[in-house]
Amino acid sequence: MNNFLIHFHSGWRWVFLILLVIALLNNLIKWRQGATNTEADQKWNLYAMSAAHLQLIVGFILYFMSTKVQFSGESMADPILRFFTAEHILTMVVAVTLITIGYSRGKRGASDTARFRLAFWYYLGGLIFILAGIPWPWQEYSAGWF
Ligand code: HEM
Repeated sequence: MNNFLIHFHSGWRWVFLILLVIALLNNLIKWRQGATNTEADQKWNLYAMSAAHLQLIVGFILYFMSTKVQFSGESMADPILRFFTAEHILTMVVAVTLITIGYSRGKRGASDTARFRLAFWYYLGGLIFILAGIPWPWQEYSAGWF
């Protein structure tokens, strides 16, 4: 079960990242074009936010199962334990919060342009935190590509 969840969590990052980049570009392009904000635009933002929420839920389940999460005095001195116990969860919760605010501001902005602009900036902030918080294979965390 643990192994399945780790692979799901690892692989889902790609689905999430692709949806996030699509929503981001959609907001940017339509903001610059001065386009009308339609239901289809809201849907791209919704897909990206839903993918983020699913990743967050699986992350929280893993948090209570993973051997890389340990609450002991020494875990903060170990870079891998510290990363998964504190840094990964913190950056990802900030990222998903930004995306969730972005979705809501993107729905309720004062004008079509404001909706695209707000969703774009919040989603961009989320993307930056996500990219910074992912344990990439070239880092010391022994994480995979999928
Ligand atoms: C929402 C964006 C998130 C992304 C994109 C993400 C991505 C990843 C990736 C790529 C790994 C490495 C998997 C591997 O070993 O190949 C990982 C591991 C892990 N993530 Fe996340 N994560 C996210 C959120 C979270 C959150 C919010 C939590 C905790 C509440 C969390 C908890 C964990 C844990 C505990 C592991 C280590 C699992 C293990 O190897 O035992 N993740 N995450």
